Amino acid sequence: MADKRYLIDIRKEFPLLVARPGLVYLDNAATTQKPAAVLDTERAFYEEADANIHRGIYALSEEASDRYERAREKVARFLNAPSAENIVFTAGATDSINLVAHSWGLANLERGDEILLTPLEHHANIVPWQQVAKQTGAKVVFCGLKEDFTLDVDDLKRRITPKTGLLAITQVSNVLGIATPLSEIIPYAKQRGVTVLVDGAQGAPHLKTDVQALGCDFYAFSGHKMLAPTGIGVLYVAEQHRSMQPYRTGGDMIEDVTEQGAEFAPLAPRRLEAGTPHIAGAVGLGAAIDYLESIGMDAIHQHEAALLKKAWHALSRIPDVTLLGPAPENDPLFSSRSAVVSFTVEGIHPHDVAQLLDDEGVCIRVGKHCAHPLHARMKVAATNRASFYLYNTEQDIDALVAALRHAIEVFR
Ligand code: ALA
Repeated sequence: MADKRYLIDIRKEFPLLVARPGLVYLDNAATTQKPAAVLDTERAFYEEADANIHRGIYALSEEASDRYERAREKVARFLNAPSAENIVFTAGATDSINLVAHSWGLANLERGDEILLTPLEHHANIVPWQQVAKQTGAKVVFCGLKEDFTLDVDDLKRRITPKTGLLAITQVSNVLGIATPLSEIIPYAKQRGVTVLVDGAQGAPHLKTDVQALGCDFYAFSGHKMLAPTGIGVLYVAEQHRSMQPYRTGGDMIEDVTEQGAEFAPLAPRRLEAGTPHIAGAVGLGAAIDYLESIGMDAIHQHEAALLKKAWHALSRIPDVTLLGPAPENDPLFSSRSAVVSFTVEGIHPHDVAQLLDDEGVCIRVGKHCAHPLHARMKVAATNRASFYLYNTEQDIDALVAALRHAIEVFR
């Protein structure tokens, strides 16, 4: 585990955790708490530099533009993108994927093409493709899973054919925390001419990610799942796609507009960012990246891996609890896994479990977690999900286990 600062001080840096000392917040796959450094940076933007960007020639607007563009540079460094020009700010991962679906998808997919997805996808990486399929006549195809719900990589490879136009794949499942073997799959797909989009919403916050090493065409993530404000997200766009058709049009993304028509900025990011963006959110995301890097992505990942092992083993000792996915020791991709555990309790509805846990101050998510197809494959109506992040502790796991044991007792 990481250094002293990490172990002792970190929770003190999150105002909400300080204000609610008894709270056991285990819904980090849904959204994360924000450290004071992020809140202060966002507030400082409004107090010191609030103006619209790329428009004014006055110093205040230039200062606002600088802060926004510095955040873009931080994101590029964080992902090891070739340049800040490959980074488009969006409203979140969902928005990023919709951007690709509408900009790239509608222009490049046609009847007879296939869009290959995995059953591990969040709805955000399914529904936009179903919509594109409806509009273009392309077909959405899913690969299989193994019995432990990990990806059947052989089946995925078999389904890559000359018809495959796009592979849209998650880096980490939001339900099970398990990783997909992107370093094996992406080169295989790229060698066959397939465009690859990676949904990094559950990856970027937890794992050191290098988009150039991955070799994907697009990589999407959300700020709010990695300590940044809601409403800001990122789309990494590989060089060859920077001139794709814009999804949204309006101010700032044009070269010229006449009464007859418009000429768009030739390349992303300008071409793909219309209107006033979430400037303070982008600046907050830059601060979140600084914060994560001050601790170190490897240290965060190590901490999470230790929590995951402990949580898995503690929960598996509770009679009637069924954990979904492979045990940590049986997962060959454990080193890329996020600290997420999903489970069911025999004879107790997941909603009752979550309610009883909430009564004891333990926040977990219940339902299908925007992953209905995965739940259908797992043949469970709903699950309980606990998801951890850098500020969670072993005491949080003890509290979860105690509350769950108590809930089972009460219910019986
Ligand atoms: N995508 C978020 C989750 O998995 C909301 O909870």
